[in-house]
Amino acid sequence: MRIPFIAGNWKMYKTIAQARAFADEFKNLYHDTDVKTAIFAPYTQLETLVEAFKGSGIGVGAQNVHFAKEGAYTGEVSVAMLEEIGVDYCLVGHSERRQYFAETDESVNLKLKALLESKILPVVCVGENLEEREAGKEEVIVSGQIRADFDGICEADAEKIVVAYEPVWAIGTGKTATPEQANQMCKCIRETLADIYDEETADKIIIQYGGSVKPENATEIMNMEEIDGALVGGASLEPLKFIEIINF
Ligand code: 13P
Repeated sequence: MRIPFIAGNWKMYKTIAQARAFADEFKNLYHDTDVKTAIFAPYTQLETLVEAFKGSGIGVGAQNVHFAKEGAYTGEVSVAMLEEIGVDYCLVGHSERRQYFAETDESVNLKLKALLESKILPVVCVGENLEEREAGKEEVIVSGQIRADFDGICEADAEKIVVAYEPVWAIGTGKTATPEQANQMCKCIRETLADIYDEETADKIIIQYGGSVKPENATEIMNMEEIDGALVGGASLEPLKFIEIINF
């Protein structure tokens, strides 16, 4: 049984004061449901959110991490630094990081391995861009990302990783993949994982869909067989919208 996991990715939005206001409102709306939830926030807001959500069942995640234990890497944050704050999750390889900050499958793989040595659960993002989709290459691209990102990761560790399928052409564009397109890609990801590991392992891995998820389309997306959750950008910034998605 895979427990649905619907998370919000705030990207580079909200100040600490705004995060605190969100947390106060959201805690009142969220009731322990069968759906797990978390907010992926910028570094500066993590401590505030960890404190605010303590005991609520709402998880907190970072949006990136460096793979080195420590070192001369100006501007970067290590796994130990995140552990000290007490975050539950960390995003790895979001398409915006791949697109604007030179994140590669190689660095994604190193970051996953670094996180797997800690208690922080990684959420790895994969997805094709518009050009790749139009060329009919989406399955080749995404299964290739999965193989490279999971390279050298053992079965027991792979089960701890959440995969977010986020087609780049559907992020922040208002264009959602149809539930069938999203389901097909999540199925392709699960088949790739079954090929790398085995079906039992692949069956346990949570696969989210992300890209213009909103209250209006959450139900049909979440009802798809292979989709176990959602990674929500814009609509997670407003407590009322985000709770509506969680209560799909
Ligand atoms: P939007 O929901 O704003 O399209 O963003 C999706 C996303 O990138 C979540 O990580």
